[in-house]
Amino acid sequence: MWNCDVKAGDSVVEVGAGSGALTIALAQAVGPNGRVVTYDLLKESIDVARRNLADAGLESRVQFKRGDARDGVEERDVDAFLVDIPDPWAVVKPGSDALRPCGHFASYSPNVEQLNRTVQALRAGTFVEIRSIEVIEREIVAQESGTRPAFAPLGHTGYLTFGRKVLDTF
Ligand SMILES: C[S@@+](CC[C@H](N)C(=O)[O-])C[C@H]1O[C@@H](n2cnc3c(N)ncnc32)[C@H](O)[C@@H]1O
Repeated sequence: MWNCDVKAGDSVVEVGAGSGALTIALAQAVGPNGRVVTYDLLKESIDVARRNLADAGLESRVQFKRGDARDGVEERDVDAFLVDIPDPWAVVKPGSDALRPCGHFASYSPNVEQLNRTVQALRAGTFVEIRSIEVIEREIVAQESGTRPAFAPLGHTGYLTFGRKVLDTF
């Protein structure tokens, strides 16, 4: 989200509402004058996400849409397009159609093969500044005797891939 410069007043599309955890963070970031539209295939996910947003007092900032984002989304000129589905590469074109010039695309994937296919799709599309990072957590143990990383292995949480829509295509 921070890598996509999501800020107060922005309009954002999310693909894969799931539990609504990311939707909550996005709704907080865009503030009362911003807008989040979140898509999900499943009614069950939409229901859970809607309930969690309501509990967080943020439901009014979010529009829930049930549908397959691979078929395209209705929104245009949005500032950011964030994806958490098994095949993020399949929504690169809908993302490009929805984003304003210079708008940010981001996807989360647990597996490196998903990252690779998404990067290829971004390269073949209208995106620049494409980059991927691995998110890992390293717990630090602070004791009287000293401070060091925990003996537990590094925790891989996933890969994030980013791109920005080109200003113009010729
Ligand atoms: C891993 S969960 C998303 C988790 C979410 N980021 C969260 O914070 O809880 C993936 C969700 O994407 C939805 N989904 C998968 N493919 C989709 C598609 N093509 N269009 C819309 N939603 C999709 C699934 O139904 C599922 O609810």
